[in-house]
Amino acid sequence: MLTRNDLLLSPSLQDKNAGNSGDLIKHTSYLALLYELIHRRSHAAQPHIVEAHGGKSVYVSTHRHLVTARQLDHYPASTLGRAQAACFAPAPSGLGPISGLQPGEIAYAGSGALHARAVIDGLSSSLSVVDSDPGVRNIVGRVFSEPCFSNVRAQLQIQNSAGPSEPVVLSRLQGGAFRSGHVLHFDPFAFVMASDDASTRSIYRDLIRESDARVGRGELAAASVFFTWGSNGFAAKEDLYGAGYRGGMPNGYQALVSTVNPEQRIVVKWCWELFFSLLFIVPKDVKVPLGRAIEADASWIRPLMRCFEIVI
Ligand SMILES: C[S@@+](CC[C@H](N)C(=O)[O-])C[C@H]1O[C@@H](n2cnc3c(N)ncnc32)[C@H](O)[C@@H]1O
Repeated sequence: MLTRNDLLLSPSLQDKNAGNSGDLIKHTSYLALLYELIHRRSHAAQPHIVEAHGGKSVYVSTHRHLVTARQLDHYPASTLGRAQAACFAPAPSGLGPISGLQPGEIAYAGSGALHARAVIDGLSSSLSVVDSDPGVRNIVGRVFSEPCFSNVRAQLQIQNSAGPSEPVVLSRLQGGAFRSGHVLHFDPFAFVMASDDASTRSIYRDLIRESDARVGRGELAAASVFFTWGSNGFAAKEDLYGAGYRGGMPNGYQALVSTVNPEQRIVVKWCWELFFSLLFIVPKDVKVPLGRAIEADASWIRPLMRCFEIVI
């Protein structure tokens, strides 16, 4: 049984954000992608998921967005609500409850646990969780050692990127290490607005360009990039709805999004308190159904959002 201490042994920046509106829509969208890839591409095997910023996989959340969202009537039947329940179902089918949680704390399955659960359920054939933080990787190892994962443990990999994962994943991508069944998820922290993030942005330009070309040739199943501007709402609004922050920085948000072939591109934008965006690069036949699926799967939580838009 996992304990609260297992999950808090090593602090992470993500701890305080886990379960916020960014996570709730991001994870809803990741699940929708998985289902659409499986249903629309019946000829392909179940996807191999690679998370370049894997995270702890299970979090102790106290976030008010999660608290509020869980109180909505439609939460239990939503895709996210059902996936969360499956993750914490009684052992050995799920992780079971997390012991030692304090009042107000909620166990929240992040992308690592949701995708690992998808491997158990046969929706994905493997998962690689890449993370540069050794404490985070230890916690993922602890979570994946639970009995519910015993039959699929060999399909769950935890990888040390020995520094930022982006250049590592880019060189693997360019070297042809990923195949038609791979899905790449990038979940970096706010990198689109600071002037000293220029080199990170240029790596994302290359990652997005390469992913777009490979998805177009059927050599990659899909890729996603999650954008956050942190508390800089001004930068977010300029990038999302204006001319671009600081007039549109080189390889800034707008430039990165417009790198993708519009026929393969979906952009989700939302705000509860902070602004977020999720860029998907998907095969042409998946684009419209995925957009509709995200729209439907997020409908229960939309009333809580200040804005929510899917640009197909
Ligand atoms: C936002 S959290 C991941 C959340 C997770 N993807 C989810 O949705 O549940 C970001 C994680 O990426 C790791 N990280 C941050 N920058 C990184 C980088 N450049 N390369 C690899 N890992 C990184 C952090 O240690 C942290 O665990």
